[in-house]
Amino acid sequence: METNKRKSILAAAQIILKSNYTIALIGAGLSVGSGIPTFRGAGGLWTRLGEPSSNEYESFLKNPTAWWSQNLNSQIDPARTEFRNSIEKANPNSGHFALVELENMDILKHQITQNIDNLHYIAGSNKVIEIHGNRTKLRCTTCELRWDRKEFDKISPFWQDTLPPKCQTCFSIVKPDTVMFGEPIPLSILNSCIHETNLADCILVIGTSATVYPAAGFPQEVLSSGGNIIEINPEETPLSEFAAYSLKGPTNDSLPKLVHEIKGLIGNDSV
Ligand code: APR
Repeated sequence: METNKRKSILAAAQIILKSNYTIALIGAGLSVGSGIPTFRGAGGLWTRLGEPSSNEYESFLKNPTAWWSQNLNSQIDPARTEFRNSIEKANPNSGHFALVELENMDILKHQITQNIDNLHYIAGSNKVIEIHGNRTKLRCTTCELRWDRKEFDKISPFWQDTLPPKCQTCFSIVKPDTVMFGEPIPLSILNSCIHETNLADCILVIGTSATVYPAAGFPQEVLSSGGNIIEINPEETPLSEFAAYSLKGPTNDSLPKLVHEIKGLIGNDSV
């Protein structure tokens, strides 16, 4: 590894070990190593398809039966099919496992992920807030109760014959847990993100273009309360200039190296 990059990773490791409460904000770049394309930038899904309309949620609420019927039966376009297939066959990569190690070492206190691919849980992470939802789950639009899709099929086996699916607790309409464009972040989720951000004095900003709010605002909050931003991304982002260190490179390379340096510092107790 070139000397400068090693020096930056070592310095970032020292900042993390000197911090009291480190969290992470994670984006699609972490899952690139698992074969899932990003949304923006070269080859990104939105780069190829264009961003979905910002009134996706509004049209869902207007006619949830039509939305569900279209969603269950649509022959979606090839790019979305490719994206869906890439997620369905994806496995966690060394970046996900590095974050599991940091959680197990009680160094990483919580992860706020924008990814809906469920890979953090498959890798073994527990302290995860999925700010944009999880594609394997359904959610009640009122009480925010969530079910694994398979679990929902068991408790409501004929739901696809009587659309839209309804919550067994409050009888409101059920939708995919993935947050749609134009949909507010579920309040319980947003409050958890704010709680973790308020506690943090260090935030790892991992594989995100830092352009979608409210998630992109959390690093600024940590910075304004005197904390540090450590960015891991091969490209510059709007946060790069504010980062104590901006580790250029793919996360499935940089994160394992960061964990290795942290272990080295703990090992020779030189923090
Ligand atoms: N390792 C780390 N980062 C990478 C890698 C990699 N191997 N490859 C690309 N990146 C970076 C890109 O440089 C970019 O900054 O990942 C980022 C991906 O940015 P986006 O595609 O915008 O993804 P993200 O930031 O997660 O988008 C946020 O936008 O469309 C919504 O809901 C969607 O959750 C998503 C949100």
